[in-house]
Amino acid sequence: MNKNNFDVLIIGSGLAGLATALKLADDKSIGVVCKTQLAESSSHWAQGGVAAAISPEDPISSHINDTKNAGAGLCDEAITEFVAINSEKALDWLMNLGVNFTKNKQSDDLHLTREGGHSQMRIAHVADTTGKAIQEHLIKRILSHPNITVLEHHIAVDIITSDKMKIDMGGNTCLGAYVLNNNNHVETFTSNNIVLATGGASKVYLYTTNPDVSTGDGIAMGWRAGCKVANMEFVQFHPTCLFDEKDRSFLISETLRGEGAKLVLPSGETFMEKYDDRGDLAPRDIVARAIDYEMKQKGLECVYLDISDKPAGFIQKRFPMIYERCLDRGINITKEPIPVVPAAHYTCGGIMTDRAGKTNIKQLYAVGEVSYTGLHGANRLASNSLLECLVFSSTASSSILNNDFTHDHQLPKWDESRVTDADEEVLITHTWNELRRFMWNYVGIVRTNKRLSRALHRINMLRDEVGEFYKNFKISSNLIELRNLLQVAELIVLSSIERKESRGLHYSKDFPKPAKIAKNTILEPQNYKNQ
Ligand code: FAD
Ligand code: SIN
Repeated sequence: MNKNNFDVLIIGSGLAGLATALKLADDKSIGVVCKTQLAESSSHWAQGGVAAAISPEDPISSHINDTKNAGAGLCDEAITEFVAINSEKALDWLMNLGVNFTKNKQSDDLHLTREGGHSQMRIAHVADTTGKAIQEHLIKRILSHPNITVLEHHIAVDIITSDKMKIDMGGNTCLGAYVLNNNNHVETFTSNNIVLATGGASKVYLYTTNPDVSTGDGIAMGWRAGCKVANMEFVQFHPTCLFDEKDRSFLISETLRGEGAKLVLPSGETFMEKYDDRGDLAPRDIVARAIDYEMKQKGLECVYLDISDKPAGFIQKRFPMIYERCLDRGINITKEPIPVVPAAHYTCGGIMTDRAGKTNIKQLYAVGEVSYTGLHGANRLASNSLLECLVFSSTASSSILNNDFTHDHQLPKWDESRVTDADEEVLITHTWNELRRFMWNYVGIVRTNKRLSRALHRINMLRDEVGEFYKNFKISSNLIELRNLLQVAELIVLSSIERKESRGLHYSKDFPKPAKIAKNTILEPQNYKNQ
């Protein structure tokens, strides 16, 4: 068999990609490609935990209601129910793999904590390093499975479809992908199914809690291949990213507030009670906007999160990573408040899928943050993302196991005949910085029509420049990412312009109220062909 030929090619090694791979590997040959190392993903950095209504005092209906309340009228009812109902099973799957969730001291029950928007204690966690603990177990299994080939430092460039090859297959069908390998050559991969598990796009903003890999590649590749994309305007800003010149992307978990931490001004005064009855535990959109308002109104560089009234031993045991990382930066969180600012954290929109993770292109699936399943509505409820990865990795893998599609089309090689080596890589870095800065300033927590149209104008200019560069020079991972970031930025701005109201994470000064009827923003590539 050709080494680049798989039953299923999975693009991404976060929780979505690895869980899907493991659920398929006994029956299918699997290729997993990832941009850097297997371990580099948002999943690895997840702190808070996995939401699951497993306590006897917590009916599933309550998890459903909390998800819908946070989602501000846009959660898909059936999907929300489906995910909440399957949350216990998802957690069991992880525990069967050996993930050792934190237990209560007195009993053998899981210790459940709380985050913003949750009316109950329902977050299962492994201290404050939940993602790392989960990913380490999955990676061990992935590396020892005989049917799984792992290709690190391989970056997918584009999906190859029957439409692009002008083959009539009774509907656009995914046949393979171009992937830039670790020797800077583009290889052609042939596959009967492809799963996009590339995560979110928060690197399109200057300040983010996400690792460098979150450049929206899957959303951009899917869009270019013909996928419908929904609700891209709903970018979630996490209220509490560490404010530190040298450590700009470190998250301070919302579970600190779940365990009693308070947001305070430099004077020590609390403020969240002015904005919402739930105070510090209001949903994220409300808390991030409140912080943004306080900072702008008072001219502050940051606000503070204070947990120092809890016993030092408790803080060190419950939040070992946050304690150590802050101590490295000279902040002893058992004694003093932590400087925090909001930062881009999660992409609620993405490639539209059905319950089985299927996109509108045959044999192409999307699982995890890259997808729009309908679960998060206008604002994701905390700790519902890892859960979404687990639930839809199951439905997608069942769907793949139940379809017997195969193909033997010879896919074309990547054409490099008209390109030369790039002469000025610095152009890429400059454009990247410019894009992330104006997205932060013009398409951030508070938006206006004027700022959005300015952003769109700049994006169009930069897209033309980068498009020329892409046509004429050999591609590099930086160029691939920049091209994708520009595409995703455009989708965020176009969706924001379409939404003539404020709802959930999208707040516009020009339309400060929610519309009477809540609608999704669905963009279809065929309507934007000439852009
Ligand atoms: P990721 O985990 O981001 O993985 C993406 C993968 O795709 C990576 O392996 C990357 O290399 C690969 N990739 C991307 N593009 C390409 C390409 N072109 N070619 C090849 N490979 C590619 N959610 C919760 O539910 N609970 C939490 O406690 C929580 N805490 C969080 C804390 C932090 C700091 C962050 C950043 C997020 C947190 N989230 C949390 C959100 C959650 O972690 C993510 O939404 C989720 O892990 C996404 O998983 P994923 O598998 O879809 O993507
Ligand atoms: C956190 O721990 O605050 C992040 C949780 C999440 O994003 O769901």
